[in-house]
Amino acid sequence: MTTLEDAKVTPVVLGGVRGGPSVPTLRKDRWWIQPVITVTVLAAFVAYATWAAFVNNNYFVGAAQHRDLISPFYSPCLTATCVPGSHPGSIITWWTISPALLILIFPLGFRLTCYYYRKAYYRSFWWAPPACAVSDAHGSYSGESKFPLFFQNIHRYFFYAGLVFNTILTIDAIVAFRQPGHGLGFSVGTAVLLINATLLWLYSLSCHACRHLCGGGVKQFSAAPIRHWIWKTLTPLNAKHMAFAWMSLLFVALADVYVRLVASGTIHDYGFHF
Ligand code: FES
Repeated sequence: MTTLEDAKVTPVVLGGVRGGPSVPTLRKDRWWIQPVITVTVLAAFVAYATWAAFVNNNYFVGAAQHRDLISPFYSPCLTATCVPGSHPGSIITWWTISPALLILIFPLGFRLTCYYYRKAYYRSFWWAPPACAVSDAHGSYSGESKFPLFFQNIHRYFFYAGLVFNTILTIDAIVAFRQPGHGLGFSVGTAVLLINATLLWLYSLSCHACRHLCGGGVKQFSAAPIRHWIWKTLTPLNAKHMAFAWMSLLFVALADVYVRLVASGTIHDYGFHF
C-alpha cells in the first residue's frame, strides 16, 4: 500500500510573487489567440446588445406583415411604451424609456456571473492570468471573496430568473406559429425563435448551478433515483457548457438582427401557412 510518506510530493510555496516578471511565460505556442478572440467577440456582443437595447424600435413584427415575432432582447415587453401587439397588456406605465432596459439585468446578470464566462473574461480582460503558465498581470489575488466579486455568488438566483426568461422565450417561439390574417404557419422567423429558445435551454440546463441543484448534496444516489437520473442526464450537457454559452450568445444576437431586419422592411420573412 502506498502511503503519503512514500508518495513523491511537490512542495507548494504559498505567498509567492504574482505578476510582472520580465519573462511572462516560457510558452512558445500562440496562447494569446484565445484571449484575443474572447475579447473581440464579447466586446462586439456588448456593443451590439447595448445599441439594440437603447434604440427602442424594430423589435416586433406584427399583424401588418402577418407575423407575430418579437426580438428576445425585448421580451417580455412590459411597459406602456411597447409597440401594440408586442405585449400581453401594459403592466408598467411609469417606465418611458426602452422596455429592453427594464429586463436586461436578468440575462446580463446570468451571463456575467456564469462560471464559464467568469473564466473567460477573467483571463481575457483582467489577465488574471491570461492563460495557463502565463504570468498574471496583477500583483495580488483575492479570489472572489471581496467586493465586488463576491456578488458572483448570486449566480444561482440569476439561474432561476433565466428559467423564467427561457419559458417566456419558448412561448414566443410557439406564438411565432401564428400568422395573423392567415391562421397558423411556419416561417424563417419561427425557426429562428425556436432555435434561439432551444439554445437558451441548453445553456441553462448545462449550467453548473443547475447540475448542483439537481444532483448536488446527495449523499447516496441509490436513495434518490430521480435526482440521480436527472444528474446523469445533465452531466453530458454540463461538459458542453462552454459551447452552449457561445452558441446561445451569438444566436440571441442573430435572432434580434433577424427580427429587426424583418420589422424594418429590409428583408421578407419567408414562410408558408397551413
Ligand atoms: S455556470 Fe454558466 S450559466 Fe451557470
